Amino acid sequence: MADKIFVGTIGAGGIARAHIAAMKGIDNIRLSAVMDVDFSRAEEVARENKAKAYGNLDDLLADSDVDAVIVCSPHNVHGEQVVASAKAGKHVLVEKPMALTLKECDDMIQACESAGKILMVGQVMRHFPVNKAIKKMIAEGEIGDVGHMIRRRYSYFNTLLPGAVYGRWYLDLKIGGICVLYCFGPHEYDILHWYLDSPIVEVYSQGTESTELYKGQKDSYTSVMKHKNGAVSVLTQTVVSHVGAHDQFIIGSKGSMFQSGDKLLLNGKEVAVEGSSSQGMQLQLKEFAECCLTGRQPDANGRSVRHTMAVIESAKQSAERNKPVLVSEFE
Ligand SMILES: NC(=O)c1ccc[n+]([C@@H]2O[C@H](COP(=O)([O-])OP(=O)(O)OC[C@H]3O[C@@H](n4cnc5c(N)ncnc54)[C@H](O)[C@@H]3O)[C@@H](O)[C@H]2O)c1
Repeated sequence: MADKIFVGTIGAGGIARAHIAAMKGIDNIRLSAVMDVDFSRAEEVARENKAKAYGNLDDLLADSDVDAVIVCSPHNVHGEQVVASAKAGKHVLVEKPMALTLKECDDMIQACESAGKILMVGQVMRHFPVNKAIKKMIAEGEIGDVGHMIRRRYSYFNTLLPGAVYGRWYLDLKIGGICVLYCFGPHEYDILHWYLDSPIVEVYSQGTESTELYKGQKDSYTSVMKHKNGAVSVLTQTVVSHVGAHDQFIIGSKGSMFQSGDKLLLNGKEVAVEGSSSQGMQLQLKEFAECCLTGRQPDANGRSVRHTMAVIESAKQSAERNKPVLVSEFE
């Protein structure tokens, strides 16, 4: 059995660079090619990393030195690129969001399963040591039965500013989808059902369009969600708050937790967690490579993350319909 996999990135922007940097610290994955529709970007990143550069997807997928791809392109092309990659016999790690529609998610799962290829989604927060510690503590009954999880993610996300790190396409509804739901939401809605190992069955959401910047799309949502095991999660997100927050309270029958960044409190007292969130990208790539090499299914496989995308669809629909939505409508 081979001891490492060789990957090509689809897209050579910010997150592709982060994946390539993370690869350097692990021994079971290597970069062999970079593809971008903006060939000059592919060339630049490839040159810096001694890899091959491509300006179109078919050429990358025809390269037999590429065992797997990491899809780092804008959201609206994830579906078609994953399907094409699986059909070309490549394993796939696709960045979040898995896709903008559930039909695309289904096509991606089907294509990878029929080709016998790994489909993993870049739910990097599942790889943060602090999140693994929370999940383990909940599973071991450290705070009893979880009743409520209350989570916030607030930021000011303006990709139109000169010199902004992120691409301008993030604010284009057709390319990026509703930004707060499809850019940040895939991490947030995902981690809630993952912590509890209990799917979300019902969602009630309200959203608001507050600013000119996000004209035509809601920039802030609050979702109240019921899990299959009876727990309730409340998630509030905004992309137009000048003061940021990213934290949560988890309330159980025997205790409670609070987490903000890498800081974790159990019943008000700080708990030491080994490792930091900055290792997330490496841990994710390591798991991806192991799965490609052994055939084991990754934790954030297509079917697991499809549930996250169904919850996001439910959140969007609930706000539009102004009433609760059963997630089963989309599963
Ligand atoms: N996991 C995380 O925390 C995280 C962080 C940032 C971005 N992301 C995700 O990564 C993906 C890429 O985001 P980014 O910030 O790197 O974007 P970016 O704008 O920095 O880079 C995207 C690149 O894709 C190229 N591109 C556009 N259309 C393409 C196509 N059809 N085929 C190939 N390349 C194409 C662009 O030329 C650009 O170089 C998105 O899905 C985004 O949500 C994830």
